[in-house]
Amino acid sequence: MIGWTATATAVTWPTAICEWSPGRPSTRPMPDQFTLADSAAQLVLKRTALRPKIGLVLGSGLGAFADSLTDATRIPYAEIPGFPRSTAIGHAGQMVIGQVTSQAGSVAVAAMQGRVHLYEGYSPQEVTFPIRVFGRMGIRAVVLTNAAGGINLSYSQGALVVIRDHINLQGSNPLVGPNDDRFGVRFPDMTHAYAKEYREIAREEAARLDIPQHEGVYAGLLGPSYETPAEIEYLRRIGADLVGMSTVAEVIAARHMGIKVLAISCVTNMAAGILDQPLSHAEVMETGERVKTIFEALLRAVLPRISADVSS
Ligand code: HPA
Repeated sequence: MIGWTATATAVTWPTAICEWSPGRPSTRPMPDQFTLADSAAQLVLKRTALRPKIGLVLGSGLGAFADSLTDATRIPYAEIPGFPRSTAIGHAGQMVIGQVTSQAGSVAVAAMQGRVHLYEGYSPQEVTFPIRVFGRMGIRAVVLTNAAGGINLSYSQGALVVIRDHINLQGSNPLVGPNDDRFGVRFPDMTHAYAKEYREIAREEAARLDIPQHEGVYAGLLGPSYETPAEIEYLRRIGADLVGMSTVAEVIAARHMGIKVLAISCVTNMAAGILDQPLSHAEVMETGERVKTIFEALLRAVLPRISADVSS
């Protein structure tokens, strides 16, 4: 049977979002994601006096940054209605609202310590629900971080790469389905998905901190298996410098709402076939741990400048 039909039993929605499968429009009644995101945002804002304009999404092995926030309010995803729960190892699963302090002062942020992925079985709408909540909280810029495989031979394990653009090979798009104009337009422009001025800020701050600077194109795949060497060769030929299993859907949803994006990948491993060795999740986590300090230093340096942009 295709889709869902009403039976005598009442149906309750466990999460905000209807079930989804590639290429098949759902026949379920769509709950109103805007209203759900709005109530989740109100709940979060009730728990803190801070009014962050910047959202952070901390990827695999990079979540510890949120532990350093001051005046922090921690809200487990389970307490936020409609929020998906992460099943991935290395993803704590809470939103932390707090201040990032540096010599340049304090910046209020809302940080997602852990994200959910399409490969966990979540729909594109579920994956992007936290970004929708950010938008309804008044967030104007997001800094997305992720672990990625390096395709560009000039990268090495542990490199930090500012994403210049992406190639969506996830087989889905979070905007599929009826468009809610309250979020944004039907056909959002993706020409400047990754704000040029934020990439420039990241480049300048990396130079100041003596962190090697790289920019690259991120290919987003579904996962969860790592790529084959032939797939990596294909990705290299179509212009990808990095490969990963996240971020793309979040960027699309953020741009749909007019939220500006900075995205930084940590090259946790060179992609399949680049070096003659198998890939492992343990290696991904180890590299994340190793570069944590410089990664956090870079975040701390860029945030006051992004804050100046979104507060003006
Ligand atoms: N491929 C896809 N996703 C990844 C990789 C990789 O090599 N490393 C970290 N995330």
